[in-house]
Amino acid sequence: MDLSVEKGSIFNSDMPALVVGVFEDRWDDAGQQDLLARVGRPLESARTSGEFAGEFRQTLQLRPDGLKALHLFLIGLGKSSDCTLDRLREAAAVATRELLGRRVSRLATDMFILGPQNEPVARRTQAVVEGVMLAGYRFDRYRTEKRDKLPPGLARLACQVENSADHQAVEQGAQLAQAVCRGVFLARDLVNEPGNVKSPLYLAERAAALTHHSRLTCEVIGEEELSRQGFGALLGVARGSSREPCLIVLEYRGGAEDEKPVALIGKGVMFDAGGISLKPAEKMDEMKMDMAGAAAVLGTFEAAASAQLPVNLVGVIPAVENMPSGTAMRPGDVLTSLSGRTIEVVNTDAEGRLILADALTYCARYQPRTMIDLATLTGACVIALGHHAAAVLGSDAPLVQRLQAAGQASGEKVWEMPLWEEYAAQLKSEIADLKNIGGRPAGTITAAAFLQKFAEGQSWAHVDIAGTAWEDSGSPLASKGATGFGVRLLMAYLRGECELH
Ligand code: BES
Ligand code: MN
Ligand code: ZN
Repeated sequence: MDLSVEKGSIFNSDMPALVVGVFEDRWDDAGQQDLLARVGRPLESARTSGEFAGEFRQTLQLRPDGLKALHLFLIGLGKSSDCTLDRLREAAAVATRELLGRRVSRLATDMFILGPQNEPVARRTQAVVEGVMLAGYRFDRYRTEKRDKLPPGLARLACQVENSADHQAVEQGAQLAQAVCRGVFLARDLVNEPGNVKSPLYLAERAAALTHHSRLTCEVIGEEELSRQGFGALLGVARGSSREPCLIVLEYRGGAEDEKPVALIGKGVMFDAGGISLKPAEKMDEMKMDMAGAAAVLGTFEAAASAQLPVNLVGVIPAVENMPSGTAMRPGDVLTSLSGRTIEVVNTDAEGRLILADALTYCARYQPRTMIDLATLTGACVIALGHHAAAVLGSDAPLVQRLQAAGQASGEKVWEMPLWEEYAAQLKSEIADLKNIGGRPAGTITAAAFLQKFAEGQSWAHVDIAGTAWEDSGSPLASKGATGFGVRLLMAYLRGECELH
């Protein structure tokens, strides 16, 4: 997509569609008065008939004379005092979706002049550009029929800046949004890709392709070496699949030479059939999304490198497939993890924590500043928080707080659950150091308590994205399927880290 920042009033733009935001309580302000004066009767009558008042998500399509543009598209932002970056982002997405549905793929907007005035122009621009771009995403690689009937992708977005003092901030916000969206799109593509295509080594190849960015390196550790080093928990999960597992290790060095990296760890279960503890057939197809944590980590590397963030990163992705077979691990098996701890596998469907255990042990050797893992770890998380927030749990309270703040800023919300030591008792095993399930109560917490044993006292937080990685019905910001959740969150978090150091 072609993104540009243009000088001058939006009404002089030569894009076919102009997207203009309005507040329901600001019809007396100069901007909306000007709009009324330009459009005249059609807008007056839409207002008096109640068709369009500027309520949040309301839209009105006009075709006024005297403009180069064919469409003047008004999008309601609701009450000005209620307007947040989230609302601005969503409004931009609603407008984009409607326009794409009408086969309009080139648009101009100046919506970022509106929105929460306490937020800098760059942040508002970022929200608007993200909204537009994310709404334009589609995954149609495998649609060979009726391709011409699909709505077009987004071709062009012009950010129209009238006040030249804002020009640089708009440019910055738009650039950052574009980098973030590249990362989100990579994550969505990887998650939407079907299981027959995406083996662990396929993911490794996609990770290796990121090394076209300077300062980004990738190393892939194959099965033989994993076995030599003692990744017993990871290899136990992989045993049921005919596909070779691997550990993908990425580094991005955008920061100072001597600065400790932030480590990002992503669950990469390319398909989770449950293993011998086989899942029910219903919705099992969706378990191709069980590598959404890995996808978010790769997406964040793509975004951070594209934005040239001044930060050092390490990425660790354990990639496996969890399948039932004659070579699969059995319920009751005992595995020796990389840490040396033994794990009784009571349920082979609690596989994410097994591969993450070894990944965390491995990662701690880098002595990172912080470790953050993302994983579609528990169905219990979907029950607790639904699809609107991820769970965050960790041993480092300020880190958890910073992640929550990043969630607020990015619109990818995270909500803390407690990690009190009482919960760890549910993981006691009779025959090994611990078992891999803690029973039904507090399933998300006991999963995190399991991981905590392998975080080895490092500053660490775990984000359970089981409820947020996949969109069942389609929303303005994400069509049905993968959401790319985590990339926006981590980019907001890392931006904060850059300001701290
Ligand atoms: N990948 C699943 C968790 C999941 C469920 C992700 C729904 C996305 C949507 C995970 O590996 C799993 O199977 N967890 C089990 C754990 C249980 C056996 C302790 C679960 O949550 O049921
Ligand atoms: Mn599972
Ligand atoms: Zn899983």
